[in-house]
Parts: sequence; C-alpha cells; structure tokens
Amino acid sequence: MLKPLLVFGTRPEAIKMAPIVAACKDRPQDIAAKICLTGQHREMLQQVTDYFGIQSDINLDLMKPNQSLAELTAACIERMDTVLVREQPDCVVVQGDTTTVFATSIAAFYRRLPVVHVEAGLRTGNIWAPWPEELNRRITSLVTAIHCAPTPQAADQLRKEGYAESTIHVTGNTVIDALLWTVKRERARGSEWRKKYDFLGDQRMILITGHRRENFGDGFRNICQSIRTLAERLPDVAFLYPVHLNPNVQGPVHELLGTLPHVYLVDPAPYPEFVWLMDRSTMILSDSGGVQEEAPSLKKPLLVMRDTTERPEAVAAGAVELVGTSVEKITERTMAIMTDSAEYQKHQVDKNPYGDGSAAPRIVELMLQQGWQK
Ligand code: UD1
Ligand code: UDP
Repeated sequence: MLKPLLVFGTRPEAIKMAPIVAACKDRPQDIAAKICLTGQHREMLQQVTDYFGIQSDINLDLMKPNQSLAELTAACIERMDTVLVREQPDCVVVQGDTTTVFATSIAAFYRRLPVVHVEAGLRTGNIWAPWPEELNRRITSLVTAIHCAPTPQAADQLRKEGYAESTIHVTGNTVIDALLWTVKRERARGSEWRKKYDFLGDQRMILITGHRRENFGDGFRNICQSIRTLAERLPDVAFLYPVHLNPNVQGPVHELLGTLPHVYLVDPAPYPEFVWLMDRSTMILSDSGGVQEEAPSLKKPLLVMRDTTERPEAVAAGAVELVGTSVEKITERTMAIMTDSAEYQKHQVDKNPYGDGSAAPRIVELMLQQGWQK
C-alpha cells in the first residue's frame, strides 16, 4: 500500500489536485492518500474542496490577510516539517508553482522524502515573471523525484536542465481532467446558472480575471483602463469580472471599474460556476495560468494580459494571444476578435495541447511503479 501525502493550498492547486484525489480513491487496494491543506487560501480554497467533496486530514490554516511571502514561506516550511515527521508518508505530491509548493518541497527535501511534482517543467526563463512562481518551479524541480510534465515541450525543458530521463514523464495536465468532468455537469445545470445571471440576458459577454503580482500597480491600472475603453466601444457587450480576493487586486479594480454600467464586478466564482461562465462567455481576458489551459477546450479566444507565458503551447496553436498590459494592444486585439468573425474563429482549435482528460490516473500509476511502499 502506497501512502502519499497530497499537499495543496490555493484555488488552482485544489482544482488540479482534485482529479488525483479521485484517482487515488479509485484504487483503494493500492493507495491510501492523506490530504494536507496548507490553507494558503481560505474562501477560494474552500470553494473548490466543497465542490469536489474533498475532506482534508490536516489543515494548517496559514492564510493571514495580505501576509508577506517571507512570513507565509517560513510558516509553511516549519509547520509542514511537523506534519511530515508525524505522518511519515512514502512520498509528497505537490502541484504547480505557489509558495505552498516551494515550501512543501523544501520541507520534504529536508526529511529526504521523494517529491512528485505535478505540472513540472513550465518556464519563462525570467525569474521576475511570473514572480515568484518561476523561482518556485525551478527550486521544486531540483528536489523532485518524478516530474509530471503536462506537455512534451515541458518535458524537453527538464531534459535541457539536465534532469534524468527516467524521472521525466509526459502525463498531460490534470486541469483538463477537472474541466471535462465539470463542464459536462454544469452544462446540464445551465438553466440554474442562466437564472442567477439573468442580468446578462442574451448579451455577448467578456469574462475577465487578473491577479498576478508582477501586474500589481501599473499593470492593473492599464488592465482596468483597457476595460473602461472597451466598455465604451462595445456598449452591447457585458463585462463580467470575478475579482480575486488579494487586497492588491480588489483595491484598484473596485476603484477604477466600480461605477461603470455593464461592467459587473463580482466575488470570485466557485469553480463550477466559473466553468459555466467561461462556457457562456464570448471571449476571455486573463493573466491566469489555469484559465490559459482551459480556454482552448471551450473554444474561447483568450488574451493573456502578461508579457511572458510559461504556457506557450496554446499560443503556438493559435488559441490564445499574449498581449501584455498595454492599453492599446489589449483594446485593439479585443476589438478585432469581437468584431471580425474570421479573426474569432482563428482562435478556435480542435485539440487542447494541455491534455486529454486522463492525466490523473497516469500520475497515480507512475507513483505506484516507484517501489516507495514501505
Ligand atoms: C497565489 C499564488 C499564485 C496563484 C494564486 C492563485 C503565491 C506566491 N501566489 O496568489 O501563484 O496564481 O494564488 O489564485 O503562491 N486572500 C483571501 N482569501 C483567499 C485567498 C486570498 O482573503 O481565499 C487574500 C489574503 O489577504 C491573502 C492575499 O489574498 O493574504 C494573498 O494571497 P496569496 O496566496 O499570498 O497570493 P495570491 O495573490 O492569492
Ligand atoms: N477560477 C475559479 N473562479 C474564478 C476564477 C478562476 O474557479 O473566479 C478557476 C479557473 O477555472 C482555473 C483556476 O481557478 O481553473 C485558476 O486560478 P487562478 O487564476 O487563481 O490561478 P493561476 O492558475 O493563475 O495560478
């Protein structure tokens, strides 16, 4: 029996770890996983665990309003060490690039425990963008025993950095497992969601998200200015923005967009609702990592409001465009997609490069093959 500890702390990690939790449950004779939440996020994490019915065994409850990265990192390493000593897992599974991932990997390394890194090998090559995630990923790779790369390109990146071939596996991204499962369910509940969003009527809708630290300040002001300009030029289009709870996002977004007609600022949407909103949208403006991976499956054009992306596959496929945070570029490209159907259709691709919906069972099978069972 393999006893892994699955660790996660933020909204996107929970969404992407949920299929692995389910895949472990599908093999009760082989695997007994424990779940440790760091609680880096609180409300936004609970929205996901509630939906997927995930019961945690441990919750470190680390979130404090607007805490510094150093404070969160220190608390996470220290508290995780206590958990690892007490639980003695066979391996530790982390997903992505957050402080939870980096701090947990370091704690596991100090206890000489094998780390399984889900969504490995993503790089921009610039440690300042995304900040601090690029560094979190690189440090995590250094202490990882199995790198679960979502795409062949991510696997090649790890080879270039000198990681042993036997440790690198292309598994697909579990975000697609979660999305395909969820979109089917939520389409079936469409009338409920249409009722909740009846203010949208039959209007076309642009869905917006944004939260990256490197966009704080000027980047966010530009994003908000672009939305103001677009709302003037597209008076018959609704702009729906579920605003991330980080105070550095809430502040400028409410200040700059709070009073505009047909720009709707709402609380972060629970995952199933957000999936329905993506599916209902005409196009998406976002700086999110996960949303970049999801949009191609739903055939929604997406503008990535960042200067660089560690997810170049969907850009190469033509599904998403990297536009940075310049007001001119965001407004010009949005107008082109919203007003020219040929331009719109160019972004609708047949195959999502990030996965086929079966990443989680592959990852569980890989873990079982390592001989880590005590
Ligand atoms: C974190 C991750 C980022 C990831 C994002 C996903 C780091 C450094 N950043 O960014 O990589 O893309 O999550 O959303 O790991 N807050 C709440 N309630 C919540 C969540 C956050 O109030 O449920 C507020 C708190 O004031 C908190 C602040 O947001 O201190 C920042 O949270 P934090 O996890 O440090 O960073 P994010 O910006 O959410
Ligand atoms: N998401 C959500 N509600 C929202 C916005 C996003 O459930 O209001 C989901 C989205 O579908 C994706 C994930 O959250 O799966 C992305 O999280 P986020 O943008 O916070 O982080 P990132 O992916 O950039 O690390």
